[in-house]
Amino acid sequence: MSTGYPRVLPVEGGIAEAASVLRAGGLVAFPTETVYGLGADALDARAVARIFEAKRRPSFDPLITHLADAADLAGLVGRVPAAVEALAERFWPGPLTLIVDRPAVIPPIVTSGLDTMAVRVPDEPSARALIAAAGVPVAAPSANRFGQLSPTRAEHVVAGLGAAVDVVLDGGPTRCGIESTIVDARGGHPVVLRLGALPLEALVEAVGPVTVRSGSSGQPVAPGTLAAHYAPRTPLRVVGAAESAAGDGGRRGLLAFRERPAGGDWAAVEVLSPAGDLTVAAARLFDALHRLDAAGVTEIVAERVPDMGVGRAINDRLGRAAATWHQGG
Ligand code: TXA
Ligand code: MG
Repeated sequence: MSTGYPRVLPVEGGIAEAASVLRAGGLVAFPTETVYGLGADALDARAVARIFEAKRRPSFDPLITHLADAADLAGLVGRVPAAVEALAERFWPGPLTLIVDRPAVIPPIVTSGLDTMAVRVPDEPSARALIAAAGVPVAAPSANRFGQLSPTRAEHVVAGLGAAVDVVLDGGPTRCGIESTIVDARGGHPVVLRLGALPLEALVEAVGPVTVRSGSSGQPVAPGTLAAHYAPRTPLRVVGAAESAAGDGGRRGLLAFRERPAGGDWAAVEVLSPAGDLTVAAARLFDALHRLDAAGVTEIVAERVPDMGVGRAINDRLGRAAATWHQGG
């Protein structure tokens, strides 16, 4: 928690002012189609340093640079490898982050000293309008404290970061609800570094086989893939089905996929999608976890969802949230 409040502006009418705050070196939280981002002028090392401070993010965890238009990529980085270009052409604007060589104009703090840079064009018109109005590339991690639940509403940002942010643009709940898929295709063959809102199936359909390295990683190259991340304050455990979750007598909260199970003694229950729609479940995931976290339960039991489409990214996030509470388990 942080004391004090940032200025909250509606996206309708607030973009010009938010853009001038960015240009002046300030921090602006803004909605993307995935989660809210905490933006700063990517060309301004001091502004970017404030992101790391506000998030209490370790300096080894590099940021994603956001552009208003896919056509801006070549202008920023020069030559783009063909396989990267093909993915950008197919999926931008959208929830896909691509790895490119870091151009000299981007200060090393953005990439935590790496000679590569993560970049994407968000598929949220107000985000692109903000970046275009600022006239600079915008470095933005998710707008939450490091390691905690990602924000899918302006209220989550205000509660988590408070006055550490100058302005929060409120565009309501985000559409996808889960972060972008990160792909490194510089070598020709696409390697998925983080599962996310763009399903693996869509990637494979577009470009053929891909390698997924997201699950195994604890190395600093992509700390969003640290084993422990995306965690609520309440201990969380992942189960195959809620019926099998033995209780410990405490007040437990349930994150269910399709329905509330008949039995069980639950103090709070969140159902992600009664229709069993994984896209809907992803959109509701972090909001439901924020609510369970605020419900005063001693443990959150989360049901695994089908491991397909964006369900893979949901299971990935649940696994990392649980790992925070069950290190080594
Ligand atoms: O959907 C999203 O991607 C959201 C919205 C705001 O765009 N952003 C987001 O940022 O999720 P963040 O900082 O929470 O996660 C960015 C991830 C981190 O795991 C970081 O390590 C990885 O991207 N990353 C950044 N630069 C990288 C690089 N050069 N190579 C590998 N991974 C990188
Ligand atoms: Mg994050």
